[in-house]
Amino acid sequence: MEFLYQKLEHYHEKNIYPFHMPGHKRNEKVVDFLPDLTKDITEIEGFDYLHRPTGILRESQMAAARLYGADETYYSVNGSTGALLAAVRACTTHGGTLLMARNCHQSVYHAVCLGQLTSHYLYPETILPYGLNGAVLPDQVEAALASHSETEAVLITSPTYDGVVSPVKEIAKIVHRHGLPLIVDEAHGAHFPFHEYFPVSALEQGADVVVHSLHKTLPALTQTALIHVKGDLADRERIQRYMGMYQTSSPSYLLMGSMDACIQKLQASGLKFFEAYVTRLKRLRKRLSQFQYPKLAEEELLGGGAAWDLDRSKLILDVQGGKISGHLFYEWLLKKWNIQMEMETETYVLGMTSAADTDEGYERLCCAVEDAEKTWQKEGRTPQKNSSVHSFLISGEAVCPIGKAMEQETVYIPFFQSTGYVAGDFLYLYPPGIPLAVPGERITEELIEMVRNARNAGLEVRGLTGISGEDVAVIREELF
Ligand SMILES: Cc1ncc(COP(=O)(O)O)c(C=O)c1O
Repeated sequence: MEFLYQKLEHYHEKNIYPFHMPGHKRNEKVVDFLPDLTKDITEIEGFDYLHRPTGILRESQMAAARLYGADETYYSVNGSTGALLAAVRACTTHGGTLLMARNCHQSVYHAVCLGQLTSHYLYPETILPYGLNGAVLPDQVEAALASHSETEAVLITSPTYDGVVSPVKEIAKIVHRHGLPLIVDEAHGAHFPFHEYFPVSALEQGADVVVHSLHKTLPALTQTALIHVKGDLADRERIQRYMGMYQTSSPSYLLMGSMDACIQKLQASGLKFFEAYVTRLKRLRKRLSQFQYPKLAEEELLGGGAAWDLDRSKLILDVQGGKISGHLFYEWLLKKWNIQMEMETETYVLGMTSAADTDEGYERLCCAVEDAEKTWQKEGRTPQKNSSVHSFLISGEAVCPIGKAMEQETVYIPFFQSTGYVAGDFLYLYPPGIPLAVPGERITEELIEMVRNARNAGLEVRGLTGISGEDVAVIREELF
């Protein structure tokens, strides 16, 4: 049997090209600080303390704040997950109210649970041909704040996992008119400020708290993230306090060194680094756009105003038209071409690029897509229209807040016969980890149908359990 550490040591020998996170792409040439045992220290003299930094770590965080145009920036060694937990807890009171996009990452829901918050939802537009979550629109935010005057903070995800950006500037203006802080989960947009080819960053558009995963799109180790604060609407003291609570008391110096090196690199040579990347990325997109099938989605994603802008570092290869499913294309790329993509859905496969990509990686992807076009054109299978379930968001009837639901006694029953029961746990489609069902919400026929479709399309639904893998936790309702 091969153990995990051995498997990790041998994985690189397979020469599988990563169109996925982390953004360093395992490319040692672009990373200025490589982890090894000699640098794995703890809080010893001269190395400061993350949770109350006064020395070298404070300097490093201040450099990050200057780079991103924040008033203050704090490092997270617990990814954007830890930073979002802290942001939500800091900007709301226990038992308070959060207005949040329904397509938020699971960590935001977990923060709602931990803070015993009531959550109201903003439903993003849908980009129809792909079933993608589009932008959250300002009018919806305005209306929701008018209906829920008890709201303490607003949180949206922009860009989404697929790279769809919301009109943060307009949303920030509305939220500020109500005297509230706008938190933006920009986990997938840490690269935005470094080239105009990418969307304008949320900090520049007026957000008060912004969370970035460095590891997703920049050359930094997995788990590294930043939380930025601008202006006075968010309490910095509270953010720091919660960052201390949601992270280990022994933060890794390898991770912090990696963040520091990434920030220094961007400061010293970010323009050059990104200019070279964008030139190659544009060339790659141009070549990919010449193939008819699988098709690189681009301008059509903006259609109908459902997206405000797009992050073109993400490659959405559309397989609709039915010659092959997203699931099969994803597997075919891996088996035949040694290309590991980030995510599969029933209608498209998602690849992530970064400044650390190699020319060889881009060449391989172009050859693979050319091969795919020839292969499936030749086979000429009957086109079958897929119904998209991937980004579908259910608006369930909330019987009680998430935190309260999580504390109730639950029983397990067959999911496909659970219509009308109240969910006792989350159900996720993974990736990207956006909940399909939330504890405290009534399970509907619509949800059951959606989970069935997702499974039929080969997608992973997490949260179902039991021997059959089809049981769901529901609340004993008489306890209410
Ligand atoms: C939109 C979004 N926000 C937050 C996170 C959490 O990020 P991290 O992995 O850095 O904890 C993810 C993870 O994929 C994500 O997709």
